[in-house]
Amino acid sequence: MKQLVRKAVFPIAGLGTRFLPATKASAKEMLPVVDKPLIQYAVEEAYAAGIRHMIFVTGRTKRSVEDHFDTAYELETELEAAGKKELLNVARSIAPDDMVCTYVRQSRALGLGHAVLCAKELVGQEPFAVLLADDLMVGEPSVTAQLVAQFNALQSSIVAVQDVPLEHTKRYGIVSGAVVADDLVEMTAIVEKPEPAKAPSTLAVAGRYVLSGNIFNELEALPRGVGGEIQLTDGIANLLRKEKVYAYRYAGKRYDCGSKLGFLQATVDLGEHHHEVGAEFSDWLSNRS
Ligand code: UTP
Repeated sequence: MKQLVRKAVFPIAGLGTRFLPATKASAKEMLPVVDKPLIQYAVEEAYAAGIRHMIFVTGRTKRSVEDHFDTAYELETELEAAGKKELLNVARSIAPDDMVCTYVRQSRALGLGHAVLCAKELVGQEPFAVLLADDLMVGEPSVTAQLVAQFNALQSSIVAVQDVPLEHTKRYGIVSGAVVADDLVEMTAIVEKPEPAKAPSTLAVAGRYVLSGNIFNELEALPRGVGGEIQLTDGIANLLRKEKVYAYRYAGKRYDCGSKLGFLQATVDLGEHHHEVGAEFSDWLSNRS
């Protein structure tokens, strides 16, 4: 029987040190690009892929994420009383009625693999998506929808990748393998942040995955690396020795909003396309002295 992707995991327990001081007491994922927090872009992306169960792996300073996806009775009552229907719809649409949000804590930031492992009991044995909200993806259909469509055909784990300049390989997980179709690679290796001279290719993992439930066994079996960290990349490297894992060159644009430069680029690009302020902002950008 064909398996469906019904759940998405959002690891948001990282420390966000590259964004200090903003992230000292607040969640990096709540930083807004124009008017929407990063985490909401990611949740909307998963929702657009047909996923309705959102699982957040949270940590200290992340309470605002729970509040964001909860009903805001006071705000809604005020908006309703003031007849501000449009704003009321904006507030309500953050968490549609058919969406379920569940939270689990990662009490120490022991790496992305460890964060995903924290969702094991909530996910069970079924395939699931992983979205890193600090990678803001713009794609039509959504990048997660593209991955889910590939998963539906292949019934195997699949990771979103993009080509990066050789000198940037040490910022990413890098994959290699055999090209089996347009934009699709059957993975034979994945390594975390290799030096350019050691990189097996320039295909870099972007923060979107659909993984089989077997990844949990691999993550559990991993020895702790430096600083006690468990890397998702190492779990995937072991998984692909036992079952097929694919890499898919997604169509769309990625902004690394975990870095200041990527965040500013996203703000400018999305600002220029914003339905309310886009035209005026664009005008201002091109005419400012
Ligand atoms: P990053 O590598 O961006 O780490 O994690 P970070 O701590 O968020 O940010 P910097 O590098 O200190 O600025 C990638 C993703 O994995 C999550 C993060 O929240 C982010 O979405 N993560 C990382 C966890 O949930 N737990 C961890 O232990 C580590």
